[in-house]
Amino acid sequence: HGLLAYDPGYRSTASCKSAITFVDGDAGILAYRGYPIEQLAEKSRFLEVAYLLMFGELPSAAEEATFREAVCQHNLLHEQVISFYRGFRRDAHPMAVMVAVVGALSAFYHDDMDIRDPEQRLNAAIRLVAKMPMIAAASYTYSIGRPLRYPRNEYDYAGNFMQMLFGMPNKDFVLDPVQARAMDRILILHADHEQNASTSTVRMAASSGANPFACIAAGIASLWGPAHGGANEEVVKMLIDIGSPENIPKAIARAKDKGDSFRLMGFGHRLYKNFDPRARVIQESAREVLAHLGLENDPLMAVALELEQIALRDEYFIERKLYPNVDFYSGILLRAMGIPTKMFTAVFAVARTVGWVSQWLELHNDPTHGIDRPRQLYVGPRLRDYPHR
Ligand code: CMC
Repeated sequence: HGLLAYDPGYRSTASCKSAITFVDGDAGILAYRGYPIEQLAEKSRFLEVAYLLMFGELPSAAEEATFREAVCQHNLLHEQVISFYRGFRRDAHPMAVMVAVVGALSAFYHDDMDIRDPEQRLNAAIRLVAKMPMIAAASYTYSIGRPLRYPRNEYDYAGNFMQMLFGMPNKDFVLDPVQARAMDRILILHADHEQNASTSTVRMAASSGANPFACIAAGIASLWGPAHGGANEEVVKMLIDIGSPENIPKAIARAKDKGDSFRLMGFGHRLYKNFDPRARVIQESAREVLAHLGLENDPLMAVALELEQIALRDEYFIERKLYPNVDFYSGILLRAMGIPTKMFTAVFAVARTVGWVSQWLELHNDPTHGIDRPRQLYVGPRLRDYPHR
């Protein structure tokens, strides 16, 4: 096969140069533009982090205000887009709806958009970040038959998302600052993670010069899978299945059994062979919110904590360096905040949109990057003649 290197899934091939996110899985380090994720989660707010990821530096107060204004200006959906929702069965999964609605936006921003123009690229990126909370929230409100809510610019990004998810037309919405802060942190922690499956999907789609809204829809599709963004949903289902601490050994035994496809959801990571730094932050947030809501004795949290302790002491998990990942606790936290399980990955998609558009901008800022074209190791039949029949 000549000069081809066989690297299934490009696990050891750098597909691009990037100055956005740094991960050292062995050391358990994650940094956006050089800033450790723990510091950003502690000191920053989501839109500031979004600016950092998209533009490369933390914004000044004036830059942040201008950025926020631009996001506020673009956070509504075209009223015609809203009719898309009505075409879905009401029990459609929010991620299915989001793939479709974000993809459909490409039809709204296509003819007059020239992605060779940096200003227009930036405009598309801001539109995507701005609209995603309403797109996600509407997929939820539609599924439960509640009237769709519009953005309100007196809230920050996370608070606005929450008021669109939970606000009712017949009473004032009261934002709980503790939960809003926790949501903001969840968004920060999930904003980017270098060349993961969904981001690589976005980059590959974008390498052909495709419409950015269509590229992000491709990213949402990839994120949906249970081995990627769908994991937090699977974690909660697993914890509910386990039910109480005495059933944990059985679950652990199943996870270790090679004849059984069951895995401990929320454990293990392709890169982190140490504690996922995001898991530590989110565990703390989960404890804070549970205490704030008087849910310290949440049975799911009890199972999660016990499961973590047992797995961390187990030879199988130690040998394979399987630690809890970000999804292990995000599921518990989101659930405590009243976010329905089927919306978990949609929340992740809202956050990751910032990463996707940052990577998309970076790709287009490099004029030397042509269309991606992976090769293959052909293992089919050798050339043969069509038979005479
Ligand atoms: N439970 C039990 N065994 C596991 C698990 C698990 N969660 N994860 C990995 N293993 C075992 C696996 O069976 C293999 O064992 P052996 O060497 O004996 O065959 C070994 O550990 C290495 O596994 P791998 O599949 O080669 O590891 P990977 O780096 O390819 O997979 C992973 C990473 C995240 C897909 C995997 O750990 C997994 O399926 N975890 C559960 C799903 C999950 O929590 N996903 C969220 C990932 S973080 C969020 C995101 O990035 O979207």
